[in-house]
Amino acid sequence: MSLLQVNNLHTYFDTRRGTVKAVNGVTFSLEEGKTLGIVGESGSGKSQTAMSILKLFQKNQRIANGTIYFDGEEISSFSKKELLNIRGNEISMIFQEPMTSLNPVFTVKYQLMEALQLHQKLDSKAALARTYELLEAVKIPNPERVIKQYPHQLSGGMSQRVMIAMALACSPKLLIADEPTTALDVIIQAEILKLMNELKEKFNTSILFITHDLGVISQMADDVIVMYGGKIVESAPIKEIFKNAQHPYTKRLMAAFLRTDIKQRSTNEALDFYSSENEQFDFSNFRENADADPDWIQINDNHYVAATLKQHPVS
Ligand SMILES: Nc1ncnc2c1ncn2[C@@H]1O[C@H](COP(=O)(O)OP(=O)(O)O)[C@@H](O)[C@H]1O
Ligand SMILES: [Mg+2]
Repeated sequence: MSLLQVNNLHTYFDTRRGTVKAVNGVTFSLEEGKTLGIVGESGSGKSQTAMSILKLFQKNQRIANGTIYFDGEEISSFSKKELLNIRGNEISMIFQEPMTSLNPVFTVKYQLMEALQLHQKLDSKAALARTYELLEAVKIPNPERVIKQYPHQLSGGMSQRVMIAMALACSPKLLIADEPTTALDVIIQAEILKLMNELKEKFNTSILFITHDLGVISQMADDVIVMYGGKIVESAPIKEIFKNAQHPYTKRLMAAFLRTDIKQRSTNEALDFYSSENEQFDFSNFRENADADPDWIQINDNHYVAATLKQHPVS
C-alpha cells in the first residue's frame, strides 16, 4: 500500500471569469521512505496539487473530482478540522518563503516548543530537550543563541533550517516541500538539500518535493512526475527521465536544464509541445485545457507518457 495515493485529482478555482482548472486529472502515488519529485514550469499546477492534499484552499477553491488516500484513509473526504489534526502531526509542509511559516513575533524557542507541546503533548521540559535535538538534527550551530532569536534575525539558510526543524517536530510520515530552496543561494541550497536527504534516511520520512529545477530534483527524487497545464505529461524514475525523456515538454525542460540547443523551429511552433515530430506518439489529445484522460503509454518500468499511439497506414 502506498503512503499517499492521488487519483484523478481535479482542483478548480471558481472565478468571475469562469472556472480555472489548476489541477486537471492528476494521478500518482508515493511509497513509504521515498521521494517523489514534481517538476514543471511556473503555473503548471504543482503547488495546487500539494495544497489539495490538506485542502489549504482559498475560498473559491475546491476539489471538483478525484480522491486522495493517505496511510489507508481517504483524506479527501475529511473536514478541514480533521485535516488540521493530520497537518503538523502526520503531514508537514515547508515552503519557499520561511517567513510565511515562521511567526515574526515569537522566538525560535517559543515556536518550536509550542509545536511540540501542541502536537506531541510534551511537557515543557521534554519539549525544550526535543527542541535542542531538532536544532542539532538540522545542524544549527550555536543553538543556545539561535533559540532566543526572532525570525528576522536569522539568515535565509538559517530560517530554512528552523522551518525544517519545525516540520520535523512531530516526526511526520510525509513531508511536502514546495520549492524549499528556491530563494537560497546555491551553496546554502546544496547544504539544505543534503540535510533533507540525511533527515529522510534518519526518520524514514516520505517526501513530496516540488521544484521547477531539474538539477534539484536529480539530487532529491527517486521518481519524478512532470506537470504541464494542470496535467501530468510524463512520469518515470529519476535516472530514466534524464536518459530517456519522451514527451516534447519534458525534452524541452531537459534541454533548458542541460543548456543544449534543441532544434528550434519558428518561435510559435517551438512552444507547441503537442505537435511533435515523434514518429510513434501523438500528444495532441492531452492539451492542457482538454478533459480527455490520457492513454498512458508505457515506455519502461514505471515510465509512462501521456500520448496515443499514432495509427500508421498499413503499407
Ligand atoms: N488564486 C487563484 N485564482 C485563480 N487561479 C489560480 C489561483 N492560484 C493559482 N491559480 C491557477 O492555478 C494554476 C496553477 O498554479 P500553481 O499550482 O500555483 O502553479 P505552480 O506551483 O506549478 O507554479 C495557475 O496557472 C493559475 O491558473
Ligand atoms: Mg508553486
